[in-house]
Amino acid sequence: MTNMLEIKGLSVGYARKGLALDDVSLSVPKGSIVALLGANGAGKTTLIRAVTGLLDLHHGQVMHGEVALDGHAILGLPSHRLVRMGMGQVPEGRLIFKQLSVEDNLKVGAAIVPRAQVRERLEAVYTLFPRLLERRTQSAGWLSGGEQQMLALGRALVGNPRLLLVDELSLGLAPLIVRAIYQQLRVVGDTLGTSMLIVEQNAKLALEFASSAYILNSGRMVLSGSAAEVAASDAIKASYLGTKREHPDGDTGPAVRASQQVQESV
Ligand SMILES: Nc1ncnc2c1ncn2[C@@H]1O[C@H](COP(=O)(O)OP(=O)(O)OP(=O)(O)O)[C@@H](O)[C@H]1O
Ligand SMILES: [Mg+2]
Repeated sequence: MTNMLEIKGLSVGYARKGLALDDVSLSVPKGSIVALLGANGAGKTTLIRAVTGLLDLHHGQVMHGEVALDGHAILGLPSHRLVRMGMGQVPEGRLIFKQLSVEDNLKVGAAIVPRAQVRERLEAVYTLFPRLLERRTQSAGWLSGGEQQMLALGRALVGNPRLLLVDELSLGLAPLIVRAIYQQLRVVGDTLGTSMLIVEQNAKLALEFASSAYILNSGRMVLSGSAAEVAASDAIKASYLGTKREHPDGDTGPAVRASQQVQESV
C-alpha cells in the first residue's frame, strides 16, 4: 500500500547556513499517527516547511530528495495547491487570525470545502472541540493557548484533510490540555482515517498516541521505529537530555524515565 506521505533522501539548506536537513527519509502510513521528535534546532520545522511548500518563504531550498503525497510527487508545489490536494497544515506558532472571530478563522480553512458542505464541516469541528462552539463569535485573539491550538487544528481539519501536519502540538500548553487534544486527534484518525505527522516536544505523550516515531538530531534522522521501540531507545535520552544516565533503581526503563523528565520540564 502506498504511504500517505513518503520522504526520501531529503536535504535542505538555508542561505548562509548550509544543510539543515541531510539525507532524511520518513514515511507516514495511511491512517497512522507518526511523531517527529528532536531537540531545538534539529530540523523538525524545516522538514514540515519542505513538505508544506513553505521553504521559499524562509529562504530555504531543497537540495536533493523526493516527497510524495499519496504517491504523487509534491516538491515545488505551492502551499495552497497542497491544501487542495488534502494536506491540512498547522504551522509553528499556529498563525491564527487574531482579529477574526473563531468561526471566521474556521471559514478560512473551509474555503476549499464545497459551499453546501461548509455548515456540516463546521459542526464536525465544533463536535470535536466544543470550546470553539462556546467561543464561536469571539475574536480568536482572546482565546487561551490551548483554545488557539484547537482553533488552528480545527481550521486545518475543517477541510477534511487526508494528511494532517502539526508543528509543535504541545508548545506552551499544560499536559492535561495536550492530552485532551491528542484524544480528539485519535477520534479523527479512527473515524475519518486521517494520517498525521506531529512534531512534538513532549516525547512521552507523543509516543503514547503515535504508532511510530522518528528522532532528528542536527539535521540527520538518528532513529525510527515503532513508538514502543523509540520510547525504549537510548537515542531519546541523548536527544532530549544530552546525556546518558544510569538509573539503578525502579522497574521502569531508563527511556521512560527520561521522557518523564522531559514532560516535567515542559
Ligand atoms: N529561515 C532560516 N534561515 C537560516 N537558518 C534557519 C532558518 N530556519 C531555521 N534555520 C536553522 O536550521 C536549523 C533547523 O531549524 P528548525 O527550525 O528546522 O529546527 P526545529 O527542530 O524545528 O527546532 P525547534 O524545536 O526549536 O522549533 C537550525 O540550525 C536553524 O537555526
Ligand atoms: Mg520548530
